[in-house]
Amino acid sequence: MTRGAFIVVEGVDRCGKTSQTMKLVESLQQKNIKAERMAFPDRTTWTGQVISNYLADKNCKLNDQAIHLLFTANRWENVEKMKEKLSSGITLVVDRYFYSGVAFSAAKGMSIDWCLQPEIGLLKPDKVLFLRIKSDTQKSRPGFGEERYETSVMQQKVNKIYDKFSQSEDNWKIIDANSSFDEVHEDLLNNIVESVQNVANSNAPFKYL
Ligand code: TMP
Ligand code: MG
Repeated sequence: MTRGAFIVVEGVDRCGKTSQTMKLVESLQQKNIKAERMAFPDRTTWTGQVISNYLADKNCKLNDQAIHLLFTANRWENVEKMKEKLSSGITLVVDRYFYSGVAFSAAKGMSIDWCLQPEIGLLKPDKVLFLRIKSDTQKSRPGFGEERYETSVMQQKVNKIYDKFSQSEDNWKIIDANSSFDEVHEDLLNNIVESVQNVANSNAPFKYL
């Protein structure tokens, strides 16, 4: 049996990742492609609950390095589960991954190199689809500002780091997320179907960071 594809959807807060990843799983299943959604931070685990409290409470004074490592630990906690699912032929559509970890921490002033170190050894995605959105569209989305990092200054810095990734990483693809939900969905879906086929045709082994 060939493994499923490991797909990551990245982008600033309120760019549409959550609703798109949910709909993508439905559309893939309709095409008889086994697919499941995951999201980081995974707020259901113990580290996820600490992270969720930190994000909700803007006065929480947790050290930047400590929260960075908790976000990373939250990914490591899920490695075996992800490998099992992919090995059983399930394509994973993942809402954020270590790119968010690096982008948000580096936006606070931490070094990118330092931020990357604890992520080394995690599974490398087959494809990262980067939803690029104009900052005016982002600010107009309901809920913007509710969580800790949802300020214009922070989000602009994060976007710059995403731009760096999109230029330096071989697995990134920029998706224009300013058009309608359905158009963005089509674009994402076509890219994912292509990746699923590529992984299946090449019998690709897991890749690691
Ligand atoms: P969410 O809105 O997708 O649930 O993510 C919550 C916030 O956490 C979002 O502002 C991005 C940030 N984040 C990090 O700072 N580091 C990480 O590793 C991840 C996955 C998210
Ligand atoms: Mg958010």
